[in-house]
Amino acid sequence: MASFKLLYTTLTLLALLSSSTFCSGFPSFHFGWGNGGGGGGGGVSRPIGGRKYSGLFPGFYSHTCPQANDIVMSVLEKAISKEPRMAASLLRLHFHDCFVQGCDASVLLDDHPTFKSEKKSVPNKNSLRGFEVIDEIKSKLEQTCPETVSCADILALAARGSTILSGGPNWELPLGRRDSKKASLNGSNKNIPPPNSTIQNLLTFFQRQGLNEVDLVSLSGAHTIGMARCTTFKQRLYNQNGNNQPDSTLERSYYHDLKSVCPKTGGDSNISPLDRTSPMTFDNTYFKLIMSGKGLLTSDQVLLSGNLGKTMELVKHFADDHVLFFRHFAQSMVKMGNISPITGYKGEVRKNCRRVN
Ligand code: HEM
Repeated sequence: MASFKLLYTTLTLLALLSSSTFCSGFPSFHFGWGNGGGGGGGGVSRPIGGRKYSGLFPGFYSHTCPQANDIVMSVLEKAISKEPRMAASLLRLHFHDCFVQGCDASVLLDDHPTFKSEKKSVPNKNSLRGFEVIDEIKSKLEQTCPETVSCADILALAARGSTILSGGPNWELPLGRRDSKKASLNGSNKNIPPPNSTIQNLLTFFQRQGLNEVDLVSLSGAHTIGMARCTTFKQRLYNQNGNNQPDSTLERSYYHDLKSVCPKTGGDSNISPLDRTSPMTFDNTYFKLIMSGKGLLTSDQVLLSGNLGKTMELVKHFADDHVLFFRHFAQSMVKMGNISPITGYKGEVRKNCRRVN
């Protein structure tokens, strides 16, 4: 144990020292693939958004697995070119991981004699996707750098890579998360905001994780890619307020289009794009659509219609300025990725992301 501790400390120091650039208030975001190592830019993470230092840093795998990010990117390229929606599914996995006992890959665990899988929770069941892609990344990483790269870091790398490959921003990604030895079905049911949330609800869910209004709006911008099932927005079409009327904030022609995808009875698994204009491209159309009453989920539209000054203003700014949105998205992704990571000697690096070792 003592020699393991010494090795760990030495590697950590080496990796820290080898990182050369510091980023100031914002993560430097740049287009392309970032650096070859696990870090994506080689800068030391300064806490972004005012959170205390999480113990993670971009160069964490610089010595132990410099190919980590390249391996992740090569699997992602293949998976996303086969099915562009996979980028969205992988981005969402990181979110559903981080909001439940922190970014510790708990979301990836299957049922175990002592706990139930988060995959069975209401927000996740028949909904979360991409587990096979994570398995493939993990098995490639185990071949090259056995027992080194955690499943929690794989989720973070896959979320960033998916954003980049869909046309979105790149950012310096702090790494060094370790994997949990348990999952929380209850935590998953309690902590992931439902799609019919009010603006106040949304903010409460985010604040519980140490995130603020800016994070709420910028991270909701992830809905610029991907799909949602009818069951998640049906209420808006037929009975928004218990009076058998549609949601009045829903633009008329969009409402009619949605009704054809999502009939009053049945069709609950039919899907519709969250951003109908460019569902596979990471851009700021999501915010432009909200501005014209074409947000798909209640939780999307209330960012504007919820009468909360700050979020309304942000939606307008992000609709006007995609560079501003990209910058804030990158910043908030780092912040979300810093939610209660397991570091040091706690937790483990799973060999198979679906099971504890
Ligand atoms: C603000 C609160 C949020 C709510 C209420 C919410 C809700 C939802 C719902 C209901 C779906 C559709 C699921 C289904 O039909 O099976 C969805 C999809 C998605 N969400 Fe969110 N979400 C939120 C925030 C986020 C955040 C923070 C991210 C990532 C940073 C994210 C990324 C995604 C993506 C990319 C998809 C599409 C997934 C796919 O196509 O497979 N969401 N979300």
